[in-house]
Amino acid sequence: MALLFLSEADPVERWRKALLTEMPSLDFRAWPDDVGDPTEIDIALVWTPPPGELARYPNLKAILSLGAGIDSFMSDSTLPDVPLARMVDPSMTRTMADYVLTSVLRHHRRFDLFEREQRAGRWTFALPERPEDKTVGVMGLGVLGQAAASMLKDAGFKLRGWSRSPKELDGIETFYGRDQLAGFLAETDMLICLLPLTDDTKGILNASLFATLPKGACLINAARGAHLMERDLVDALDRGHLEAVTLDVFDTEPLPASSPLWQHERVLITPHVASYCVPETAAKGIVANIEHVQAGRPLHHQVDRRKGY
Ligand code: NAP
Ligand code: GLV
Repeated sequence: MALLFLSEADPVERWRKALLTEMPSLDFRAWPDDVGDPTEIDIALVWTPPPGELARYPNLKAILSLGAGIDSFMSDSTLPDVPLARMVDPSMTRTMADYVLTSVLRHHRRFDLFEREQRAGRWTFALPERPEDKTVGVMGLGVLGQAAASMLKDAGFKLRGWSRSPKELDGIETFYGRDQLAGFLAETDMLICLLPLTDDTKGILNASLFATLPKGACLINAARGAHLMERDLVDALDRGHLEAVTLDVFDTEPLPASSPLWQHERVLITPHVASYCVPETAAKGIVANIEHVQAGRPLHHQVDRRKGY
């Protein structure tokens, strides 16, 4: 099996070592210098390939994404019609849950307020509130959303979640579909977005959604920048309807210097670091999928192209 590794963001030698440790017989080819004969490539393990690149491998049998989100693949009209799997890695899941818990606690314990007040040289007392009195709502109850919700539940918060299809989750009040979105939002004090970016979810964090949240709500977007209408957000913050936000992802990355978000005192920006996939923990799952390709079986975590995630 020849595997093409294509990512400008991931450490190629670390990946080579991790994959060869799990599968010594793997023929690992690194893009762009060590591809060899394109007709020999069976599998592509990739993150944000240049549009059109994957169409150059006529015998490709599967595409494995190095990221959990596969929206960048779906926008390439030349993407070969072979099974596509998204990334599920225990380290990535844990790191995302940590990011969400850290962000929620920062808002809940008012560190966002104290950071602002310190800059103004003000001693502002705000009594700590109980997590039991706060409701956190998670949009997207997939691998990452469920892990984050479970960690927040263990920290004492009231949890509710929203997904596309109905779910029963222990200790989490669940909602699904557009019809139940308003009900989900109405009592959500802190909203977490962990949705995939699809035609249905693009721009979902907009003025009408913000207006449905209670006054003083906080938002954490760790999914994709295109979920968020940035102008609507700034307006909701400036009117005092939203209290504060944490943003890890942006429509244009890096976020342009001209963006008003940089200077907004109620916005915390992190540079798309909420989570990432670790070669040493992800290699097992990738090799399992390579074996599925060899055996002609369906992939684990295979993307449903009709749904877009
Ligand atoms: P996943 O397991 O595929 O879960 C997606 C969840 O979203 C599912 O619960 C799904 O509902 C729900 N959903 C999809 N479309 C919906 C819709 N139209 N309405 C309501 N719910 C909808 O995905 P994941 O692995 O948790 O990853 C989620 C996203 O996180 C990724 O797509 C990526 O964009 C983002 N991400 C960001 C970072 C970062 O560093 N910032 C890192 C990794 C991932 P069903 O359960 O009903 O199907
Ligand atoms: C990162 O953003 C991912 O989708 O894995």
